[in-house]
Amino acid sequence: MKLFRRPRRLRELRIAKSMVTEYSLQKQDFILPIFVSDHCESKEPVESMPEVYRWSIDAVVEQVSHWKEIGLYAFALFPCIMPEKKCSSGKEALNPDSISFRAAKKIKEQHQDTLLIADLALDPFTDHGHDGILDSSGRVDNDLTVEMLCKSANLAAQAGFDVVAPSDMMDGRIGEIRSSLDNAGFEQVAILAYSAKFCSAYYGPFRDAISSTQKEPIDKSGYQLNPANSREALLELKLDEQEGADLLMIKPAEPYLDIIKSAKENFSLPIAAYQVSGEYSRIWAASKLGWLDLDRCAEESLLSIKRAGADVILTYFAERIAAKL
Ligand code: PBG
Repeated sequence: MKLFRRPRRLRELRIAKSMVTEYSLQKQDFILPIFVSDHCESKEPVESMPEVYRWSIDAVVEQVSHWKEIGLYAFALFPCIMPEKKCSSGKEALNPDSISFRAAKKIKEQHQDTLLIADLALDPFTDHGHDGILDSSGRVDNDLTVEMLCKSANLAAQAGFDVVAPSDMMDGRIGEIRSSLDNAGFEQVAILAYSAKFCSAYYGPFRDAISSTQKEPIDKSGYQLNPANSREALLELKLDEQEGADLLMIKPAEPYLDIIKSAKENFSLPIAAYQVSGEYSRIWAASKLGWLDLDRCAEESLLSIKRAGADVILTYFAERIAAKL
């Protein structure tokens, strides 16, 4: 054939191929989510998430040294608290001695060179499992919940967290949290906004990890985004940008690559994406059945998230993949 264009030419020249590679994964792109528990000894596996554990404070402080050795320095902490401490108002969230705050203090004592991110939401602390306080009709009360989030943001800052990450999807919380932090002298604490958080079935294994006590999946569609809506996601991203977020996050990641791409095109803030528990576990499950190659699928999935526009990726694969980079 007389072909003027043969795109395969460069693909077959090894060195040229690596020169024209557009995207690659880097350890510094990753944030590792970790679960800290106030009632486990050392570490305890999360059944629905292979290689993911709930850690005691002492064990996690030690483990951070290992993570740093493989090049991971950024961690998002999620609390797992014992059922007796859960109540309808989630008041354990405002206990300065609750597990995440204690863990952050200890980690920072030993590892000042880490970046610690506090997840702000009430669901690990409420007995009904919702991300906020319910009013008399059972609806999540937006403004009361935001008041609590502001207080817990200040406690997180006091405990040594560098970044707070509200994952609740209440209206107006970014602006209120910003003012609350600034008024308390925490101007340097950044906000990673879970801006476009969809009401997703992929959060299932996470709820297991934080021991949400509900038997049936609960419905968070009154505050989380409708998976059918992309323009509404852009509105949420815009509001968080205007209210003072430092980074904008889309979650889940791979099922919402279109949203990541338009966030990158429409905003100047850095874009984060959260490859959530269910995205992790589905790859694991298929690989356990011998149907998919675990590491290659994990890498391909992460690369697709990066290619779509994510500057920062929260992923449970961080340890596995960083060790290979
Ligand atoms: C809730 C929260 C969730 C996740 C992070 N923060 C679950 C939910 O909204 O029910 C999910 C993360 C994951 O699935 O890995 N505040």
